[in-house]
Amino acid sequence: MEEIERLAQLIIESQKVIVFTGAGISTESGIPDFRSPGGIWSRYDPEDFTIQKFLSSPAARKTIWKMSVEGGLLTEAEPNLAHYAIAELYQLGKLDCVITQNIDNLHQKAGVPEDKVFELHGNVGWVVCLSCRRRFPMPEVLQKIKEGIEVPDCPDCQGILKPDAVFFGEALPQETLQEAIRRAQNCDLFIVIGSTLVIYPAAYIPTYAGEAGATLAIVNLTPTPFDHYAEVVIRGKAGEIMSRVMEKVRLS
Ligand code: APR
Repeated sequence: MEEIERLAQLIIESQKVIVFTGAGISTESGIPDFRSPGGIWSRYDPEDFTIQKFLSSPAARKTIWKMSVEGGLLTEAEPNLAHYAIAELYQLGKLDCVITQNIDNLHQKAGVPEDKVFELHGNVGWVVCLSCRRRFPMPEVLQKIKEGIEVPDCPDCQGILKPDAVFFGEALPQETLQEAIRRAQNCDLFIVIGSTLVIYPAAYIPTYAGEAGATLAIVNLTPTPFDHYAEVVIRGKAGEIMSRVMEKVRLS
């Protein structure tokens, strides 16, 4: 496929590559995305995942904790070929950073250093207390739920514990967002993988990169509103595509 060749050539010519990922990069790891047929929002109501709902009552929190555990959002998934292809970009010294909407920690697990992963929507590996802001590893809190504490609260101050993912209606982590935008405005190649690009402000970031002169590439199973901005659009599965791209980059 000549688009595979084209994307490999763009990577070879670039010094500062940014990869922007969405849930579509993790479906091959067994984590459902949100808007594909059978995705999370075809099984759960996004309205139940607003911060207002979470704060409204212990019953709402019990439902959300229950959904999070059942919804597979917290399973021990493994990185797939697409995550490892991005980690190889880092090993080749090509990767400026990963900007991800995902909360599954798979980029870090695949070998991209923590300080090169900007998580716009938080990380489901941690739980934060909304009163004293202390953070706890998710496995510790999940253990309490498995022992029957259906709505865990902070062991220090009895405040409300919330998964450290960004709920609808919540602000994104501002420092992370600002740094991600700054980086996007200073890269040569901006590759989007596995996102519908319909959720803002995350979906603005590819525009900022393009406006600042970066070349845009999109690897996605289905069309996105930004396809017409992209120099290269590759329709297909991220794992296979990114593996084939990296094979060609390695040969250069
Ligand atoms: N390879 C390539 N693309 C894929 C694959 C795959 N294996 N599997 C799915 N996709 C594509 C789908 O076609 C879809 O266009 O990935 C995209 C996933 O889009 P969404 O499910 O909308 O996920 P995302 O774009 O990350 O959603 C953004 O919305 O619900 C909120 O906070 C949540 O971070 C999430 C945000």
